[in-house]
Amino acid sequence: MFLQIIKYLSFYFSAKTKYGIHSPFVFAFIEEILENESNYYSFLAIEHIRKKIEKNSSEIIVNDLGAGSKKIKTAKRKISTIAKTSLQEKKMAQILFKMINYYQLSDNVVELGTSLGITTAYLANAKKSNKIYTIEGSTEIANVANSVFKKLGLKNIELIIGDFNTNLKNLILDSKLGLIYIDGNHTKSATISYFNWALENANENTIIVIDDIYWSKEMEESWDYVKKLNEVTMTIDLFKMGIVFLHSVKVKEHFKLKKSIF
Ligand SMILES: C[S@@+](CC[C@H](N)C(=O)[O-])C[C@H]1O[C@@H](n2cnc3c(N)ncnc32)[C@H](O)[C@@H]1O
Repeated sequence: MFLQIIKYLSFYFSAKTKYGIHSPFVFAFIEEILENESNYYSFLAIEHIRKKIEKNSSEIIVNDLGAGSKKIKTAKRKISTIAKTSLQEKKMAQILFKMINYYQLSDNVVELGTSLGITTAYLANAKKSNKIYTIEGSTEIANVANSVFKKLGLKNIELIIGDFNTNLKNLILDSKLGLIYIDGNHTKSATISYFNWALENANENTIIVIDDIYWSKEMEESWDYVKKLNEVTMTIDLFKMGIVFLHSVKVKEHFKLKKSIF
């Protein structure tokens, strides 16, 4: 925790607000996505369900196929504990929604790590004609996510239960990826292999998002590795997650962004 605070402070003092940005693309990203406070109708419904599951004290057995939680170590977990510790925060999930919406990212969206399905619901609502593939290794967690999708009436989600690696190998997309959100199994080798799968299925409009880029030394190394790849033309580091763009640009650039307080 202490280390995370130090890392955040170092990020904060090197990050820029829109007042220090010259790139029109990044300026628009800040205004239209990062600082866009619009509340869509679907946000209310999703956050209502998040609140409900945060109060659900039923216990489920979790089969963790990833690098593991830093906060919970037991196999038997309360749904409320998972909801409070493992889910992406509202603001970041809404940024994913707003990116799909603003850039009109189409066709296939992939999420690695469904957990209770709250972020998946944002991805699915952003563009109902998209198909969302979300993979979750733990069956009992996936069952809760399925009930969330049912309650929200979401029909454009295919929830795949099993290991990321095996299921990515079997996942044949009928067109290129709009967006992929990598949010599970935070080891360096796994993150790089998921990123490479994404590149194979990407075109220049695809956006690749990696969560928790400062979660551990391995995740920081993964982020550094990704930024150096030739295919990667621009990155935006929001501390909580890293966003990768593949579109053609004159000069490759990396940005660290924070919201302006003015
Ligand atoms: C941080 S949570 C995902 C949170 C979710 N994306 C959200 O935004 O609310 C990570 C999830 O990935 C799953 N997971 C981790 N490693 C996995 C693997 N190798 N294969 C399948 N699922 C995995 C875990 O069971 C966990 O539910």
